[in-house]
Amino acid sequence: MSPSLSTHLSVKSVHIYLSIYLSIYLSIYLSIYHFYIPLHLTPAFLGTCYSKFVWLPHQYHPEQIHLSYGDNPTQMVITWVTLWPTNSTVVEYGISRLDTETQGKETLFIDGGSEKRHIYMHRVKLTSLIPGQKYFYHCGGEKGWSALYFFAAMKSGQSWSPRLAVYGDMGNIKGRSIPRLQEWAQKGKFDAVLHVGDLAYNLDTDNARMGDEFMRQIEPIAAYVPYMVSPGNHEEKYNFSNYKSRFSMPQNGDGENMYYSFDIGPVHVISFSSEVYYFYIDYRYIDKMYDWLKRDLEVANQPENRAVRPWIIALAHKPMYCTNSDDQPICFNKYNPVRVGSSLQVGRGLEDLFCNYGVDIYFAGHEHSYERLLPLYDFMVRNGSFHHPYTNPKATVHIVTGSAGNQEAQDPFKHVDHPFSVYHSDDYGFTMMYVHNVTHIHLQQVSDDKGGKIIDDFWVIKEKVGAPNFKCKKLRN
Ligand SMILES: [Fe+2]
Repeated sequence: MSPSLSTHLSVKSVHIYLSIYLSIYLSIYLSIYHFYIPLHLTPAFLGTCYSKFVWLPHQYHPEQIHLSYGDNPTQMVITWVTLWPTNSTVVEYGISRLDTETQGKETLFIDGGSEKRHIYMHRVKLTSLIPGQKYFYHCGGEKGWSALYFFAAMKSGQSWSPRLAVYGDMGNIKGRSIPRLQEWAQKGKFDAVLHVGDLAYNLDTDNARMGDEFMRQIEPIAAYVPYMVSPGNHEEKYNFSNYKSRFSMPQNGDGENMYYSFDIGPVHVISFSSEVYYFYIDYRYIDKMYDWLKRDLEVANQPENRAVRPWIIALAHKPMYCTNSDDQPICFNKYNPVRVGSSLQVGRGLEDLFCNYGVDIYFAGHEHSYERLLPLYDFMVRNGSFHHPYTNPKATVHIVTGSAGNQEAQDPFKHVDHPFSVYHSDDYGFTMMYVHNVTHIHLQQVSDDKGGKIIDDFWVIKEKVGAPNFKCKKLRN
């Protein structure tokens, strides 16, 4: 051994001993003098020290890779996780070769559980993409790279037909729809996912390891198509911190994934939080979200915008209407807070807003079932016509699709002849929305229980391009 190498090793040994000694000393000091053990500090500190000298590729390996739409069709956001800090956040991509590189940012997320686990979130926004173009990519950096994936940038304009998988209430313990969605995503059968809350049961469970596992399970979907999410009640722990940290939705709302909007083909999509009416109720926050929604809908309704994007689709977790027999407080509550606002804040509910600004379809989950309702306003059916209720409907069409795979059992129906429920099913599955063009949307319910069979199939039609002709006058007080 050369003298210089021997010197180097002895210096390195001293570094290791000093690092471990210092971390133990700090833990004991803080335990004694501050009367608590900083559990997040010791393993993190030790890990950081250790990682300087020991190479553990799996800790640096990019995982949980998922895509989301950016601000326009030339953008795509790629988000992933490493379990240790890498100080390197890079996506290499291209059409036939990985000849382009974009750098992003690594941020530390500290879970709110007892272990205060450290998880490193990496985000890269690709810009200047060619709309509709297929790209190959991998992500990571000098300490490790992901496998090779591909995606298609969103097509531009409104003269194309987006195909969207819509569902809520998945989880990875009984994620029944996951295999079919993985297969369909990689076969190009849909352009994006809209997951309307209750993601993992829960992202925070077991000190967020459940969240890690869920994100790994959906990677075979979400690394290929944008995975757009809305918050549900199962994301609420630690003020939705896992949800806010793990995803990268468009930044035009609150900037924390709780509410935002984006355009896709002839559709303006709005995602919002129904949970602000149920958790951490802060009327200023509800006001803020309501005001943002109103402004967003005003812009979407400007004649020049509605002429090219006549469809407005809203997404959130909890429904305004449903007929499940085991959830009276939501399904049969005429004071449903998402619909009418809380008792102290009458008028901050969203049904009037949706009616006045012509929201064509509202997708929700939460009820572990699928249900197609007639166009409704103020508990009144507002069909287009008796024989064709969904042609020129006179109120928002409500669809509940919360049966992707939850492990809490399905929610039953007893009101089989309810006047505003057209079809319901307790099969596990998901909804496919084919936005045929500016006047026609085709909806199908895919049953996992029946091997992928389509168990419901209908069209929503607006014969005149533009805002719908809704009737928003209440018939009673
Ligand atoms: Fe829920």
